[in-house]
Amino acid sequence: MTIIGARPQIIKAAALNRAIRTKFSDKLMEVIVHTGQHYDHNMSDVFFEEMEIPQPNHQLGIGSETHGKQTGKMLKEIERVLELEKPDALVIYGDTNSTLAGALAAAKMHVPVIHIEAGLRSFNKRMPEEVNRITADHASTLLFSPTKSGLRNLEKEGFLSLSEAQKIGNADIDNPYVFHCGDLMYDNTLFFSNKADEYESFFSKHGIDKKNFILSTIHRPQNSDDIQVLSGILSALNEISLEDSIEIVLPLHPRTANMIALSNDDGIQKISRNPLFKVIEPIGFLEMILLEKHAKLVMTDSGGVQKEAFFMQKSCVILRPETEWIEIVESGCAVLVGANPTNIREGYEFFKQNKSLDFPAMFGDGTAAEFICESIIEHLN
Ligand code: UD1
Ligand code: UDP
Repeated sequence: MTIIGARPQIIKAAALNRAIRTKFSDKLMEVIVHTGQHYDHNMSDVFFEEMEIPQPNHQLGIGSETHGKQTGKMLKEIERVLELEKPDALVIYGDTNSTLAGALAAAKMHVPVIHIEAGLRSFNKRMPEEVNRITADHASTLLFSPTKSGLRNLEKEGFLSLSEAQKIGNADIDNPYVFHCGDLMYDNTLFFSNKADEYESFFSKHGIDKKNFILSTIHRPQNSDDIQVLSGILSALNEISLEDSIEIVLPLHPRTANMIALSNDDGIQKISRNPLFKVIEPIGFLEMILLEKHAKLVMTDSGGVQKEAFFMQKSCVILRPETEWIEIVESGCAVLVGANPTNIREGYEFFKQNKSLDFPAMFGDGTAAEFICESIIEHLN
């Protein structure tokens, strides 16, 4: 049984579901449960349509709430579905409230938990995701880390790799162990890259100059919930756009859109007077891949988007003070600037002047989903 709820989880689930359907259907059967954490068409349905994910077997319809209420309602409903479906294992992705609820519900019912995207750490517990991912990892049985740094984090927290577990005779299902598996988002990027080209009319539809734009996304609570912080980020992007006559394309997450709609802050008003600043609704994954392919640069606080920028060999200004994807920063292909407008501008200038970057392969070979399926079959049988 797979738990999804938020946009990036639906996208990741597409890769595993595709592998199960096309290569492992004789050995694995998947029941998909959508918590309803994301529910707007462009935050959920669009991915099922574009990425050919089967409709969820269970839609829990939880919707938006405070953390406690949302996670509590999910916990209760996931427990009910676990009782009904009696799965052999539960798959959870990433670090959202849907991840946490799935991990807790299953672990308490002694259903093995398979955590995909395990081991990532920002070391900032003010992020709701950090609390979710640490708790989910420690409730899990099979932990799949996309990166080597994720693997090291888990080892520091006492988890064993499979080979170590085998050495001490502990490699059975009652003892958790960790795998380094590559990145499902990389699988998806490779798989959909050519198909994304069929969406070229997106540029003319939105009046975007495909040779001259920066792609940006903003949705972290620390950037979007404080109007002054958000205004500072948008003002910095606006100045970059005006000074260099470059378009900013900002597909806006509803959390941030709600803040902007409520505000009459001057920094925010200014972007609506700049014809080069294109604020658009959230978009589908294929349109997103298309934008990432053509963007001159990416400026984002999204975990997924900073990685996809790297996959597309684009430099990235990360609008956060830290990242779980430290390999990207260490490679020199991204810089951490937080929300400070001066730092944002310096980050942009840095990449404007540094044109030759090296993007080493470090997210697998596009077959993470197959590796995960094979490992599940081998270790849960
Ligand atoms: C959630 C995840 C975050 C992930 C992000 C991906 C948690 C704690 N956070 O953050 O890790 O990076 O998803 O996008 O789980 N809203 C709508 N329509 C929707 C969904 C949300 O209008 O379809 C609005 C609601 O006002 C809601 C707000 O967005 O209160 C925030 O949604 P929520 O799911 O709580 O958190 P995200 O910021 O999306
Ligand atoms: N994404 C999308 N449409 C958008 C914005 C993002 O399809 O308008 C995709 C993006 O390509 C990536 C994923 O959503 O695959 C990242 O999700 P998000 O930024 O919401 O969350 P995070 O990765 O930060 O948890």
